[in-house]
Amino acid sequence: MKTLLVTGCAGFIGSNYCRYVLKRHPDVTICGLDALTYAGNLSTMEDLEATGRFRFFPGKIQDEVVVNGVISSQAVDTVVNFAAESHNDRSLLDAAAFIQTDVAGVFTLLEAVQRNNVKRMLHVSTDEVYGSATESSFTELTPLAPNTPYSASKAGGDMQVRAHHIAYHTPVTITRCGNNFGPFQYPEKLIPFFITRLLDHKKVPLYGDGSQVRDWVYVDDHCSGIHHALLHGFAGEVYNVGSRGECTNLEITKRLLELLDRPMEMIKFIEDPRGGSHDRRYSIDASKLQSIGWQPEFEFDKALEDTVRWYVDNQDWWRAITSRDDYRQFIERYYGRYLGEDL
Ligand SMILES: NC(=O)c1ccc[n+]([C@@H]2O[C@H](COP(=O)([O-])OP(=O)(O)OC[C@H]3O[C@@H](n4cnc5c(N)ncnc54)[C@H](O)[C@@H]3O)[C@@H](O)[C@H]2O)c1
Repeated sequence: MKTLLVTGCAGFIGSNYCRYVLKRHPDVTICGLDALTYAGNLSTMEDLEATGRFRFFPGKIQDEVVVNGVISSQAVDTVVNFAAESHNDRSLLDAAAFIQTDVAGVFTLLEAVQRNNVKRMLHVSTDEVYGSATESSFTELTPLAPNTPYSASKAGGDMQVRAHHIAYHTPVTITRCGNNFGPFQYPEKLIPFFITRLLDHKKVPLYGDGSQVRDWVYVDDHCSGIHHALLHGFAGEVYNVGSRGECTNLEITKRLLELLDRPMEMIKFIEDPRGGSHDRRYSIDASKLQSIGWQPEFEFDKALEDTVRWYVDNQDWWRAITSRDDYRQFIERYYGRYLGEDL
């Protein structure tokens, strides 16, 4: 691995993965490709560019001219795909971009990997493709049963990966992880959305009774899982990434209230906008990845505390987003009728 193409590098996990790799591999250069949608930020990549081993290319993964141009001109030998429309709630309002990026974009990348003889590709997917867990945890053999346009589009991308490997022996591996948290996460996702609102003394909207269970993973554990699967996993295989971080949304919210010293009254229980499509529980069995030598490192409470501290210390970063018109319009459109005067 000498020259890595990381797509979605201006987003949350993609940028953290670039940091992870640049720190551990002084001989590796990263080409970052990102369409800079509402979720991508130039400011998120400032420290990456300062290393001198990261070069940014603006563009969409479904644009074959751009993708082939970067791969061939930069002699890319490895591709890691993070680029995606990634927010469930937005997919319920308008799913078209999800299909374009999460399905067609993945296909374009696979074609480019094959055409340019790229040595290895890793496609980053999600546990949400499995739908809702009942008693047991998701293994890689759990049937795909997505329940939202977002998770269905990710499942569509995974199927393109599977078919490409079987039909053309494309050297590609999939990872599927649970809900991530950590620095640089766009403040529409539960943890940063709640932290940033609580810092501004605004109430936080909790869907239903808050009993939905999510399997939380600190972003650096996700990055190390992806990297381990890339270096040590087999092409054509799927590896779940998880650290046994199951927790209800209510429990997580209470922890955030404690960490920020806010009262329980700051929770506003609202009707669940996702209705029947809201998965009750996610639970990941990561033993397959562990069987090839990977282990999560981070302890949940400490990682959550560090994340809260990051948002306290980096208000310029997130306030530049929350003060934007498009951010305010989304929050108003999605939560307006539930939050009323607490918006
Ligand atoms: N956030 C989570 O909890 C989580 C959990 C498991 C898996 N994942 C997966 O990890 C990946 C990254 O998630 P994230 O939370 O960092 O998302 P994010 O929304 O923070 O970042 C996505 C990035 O992709 C870019 N992008 C969107 N469409 C693009 C396109 N067509 N071409 C090029 N770039 C495009 C955006 O500009 C943004 O920078 C996604 O594939 C997601 O499905 C996320």
